[in-house]
Amino acid sequence: MLNWDDYNESEKPQKTQPIVKEEVSAQIQEAIQPIEEATLDHVPAEAGDRAKQAKEAIEILDAKAGEEELEGLAGRVQVDDKAMINCRADLNQLVPFKYDWAWQKYLDGSANHWMPQEVNMTADIALWKSNDGLTEDERTIVMRNLGFFSTADSLVANNLVLAIYRLITNPECRQYILRQGFEEAIHTHAYQYCIESLGMDEGAIFNMYREIPSVAKKASWGLKYTKEISDPGFTTGTDETDKLLLKNLIAFYCVLEGIFFYCGFTQILSMGRRNKMTGTAEQFQYILRDESMHLNFGIDMINQIKLENPHLWDEQMRHEAAQMILEGTELEIQYARDTMPRGILGMNAGMMEEYLQFIANRRLVQIGLEEEFEGASNPFPWMSEIMDLRKEKNFFETRVIEYQTGGALTWD
Ligand SMILES: [Fe+2]
Ligand SMILES: [Fe+2]
Repeated sequence: MLNWDDYNESEKPQKTQPIVKEEVSAQIQEAIQPIEEATLDHVPAEAGDRAKQAKEAIEILDAKAGEEELEGLAGRVQVDDKAMINCRADLNQLVPFKYDWAWQKYLDGSANHWMPQEVNMTADIALWKSNDGLTEDERTIVMRNLGFFSTADSLVANNLVLAIYRLITNPECRQYILRQGFEEAIHTHAYQYCIESLGMDEGAIFNMYREIPSVAKKASWGLKYTKEISDPGFTTGTDETDKLLLKNLIAFYCVLEGIFFYCGFTQILSMGRRNKMTGTAEQFQYILRDESMHLNFGIDMINQIKLENPHLWDEQMRHEAAQMILEGTELEIQYARDTMPRGILGMNAGMMEEYLQFIANRRLVQIGLEEEFEGASNPFPWMSEIMDLRKEKNFFETRVIEYQTGGALTWD
């Protein structure tokens, strides 16, 4: 903690004696004397020009402010002025809130702050380096998932910053998106921390999203939707462009974060439940908590945009949205088969397929579509418990660092 005691005696602010009014005005006069003398004639010509130009620029600005009101800054923002997309109200004013769910998620996300270095990786390092601690299939699962996730969270973060942020025209949603962006950075950091701790071949792991087909297909499926709207010249405002933004949100929130993460999370958390790679599993558990909030935020955004722009949610859009979720489910099923050629950790590719169909049904229903996989049930009910923040009573008890919520300086 920052403390004045860390400073040398000579650097400490000295307690001052009360001074009388006349002394103050004499001191001020003394201080401004040199400034008054330093007219433009006394400084070199070039610097004088710059000062003159700066003064002229401000005069022009003043004149403009008097003549016309700046676009988007026309007045105080009213709740009814606010909208998820294509909003014309001033986006620099956070309040009054219109979407309380977005602000609440920002508060909840901030309250769950964590850092990867807080997790003890000692047992994982010993297990990973031992010759008989893990089977080859278990090692494949750890490497494949670190390979997929180490770049997947960067894809999500880039999509947020380069595509979504600019086009979501609401300050409280942007506030959460900023929080989410930082959480994605923490997740990438967590994967990097695991990879480094375990002494893995970083080049091989970080390039899996280009070199291992089941990983590469998921990454390129997502990237396609970023490319569509990340061009700096892209704007919304027509049905066609508004739909492209909506599709991007469905691709990233419902599919990438809502389906593509689920096989890997289940595998690593199942490993942790069997007392293997417990540090890595703990990192994944914290990440999953964050991700379930990202997903819920995305669902809320999608549904709010639908509510405000019902014409966008036409027959064709509904068909495309369902199609995207089914494509994502199929890619994740392929990933499950690739990473689990045999039964492992009390699960197999068949069970994972059913789980993914169960998840896909939930995603469809969450954005107002019909279920596609009749009767699909959840073979891993313990996953739901891990995701439910309210049931996670012990989260803070396992932490080794307490975050300070405000800096305090001691003056004595
Ligand atoms: Fe993430
Ligand atoms: Fe996320």
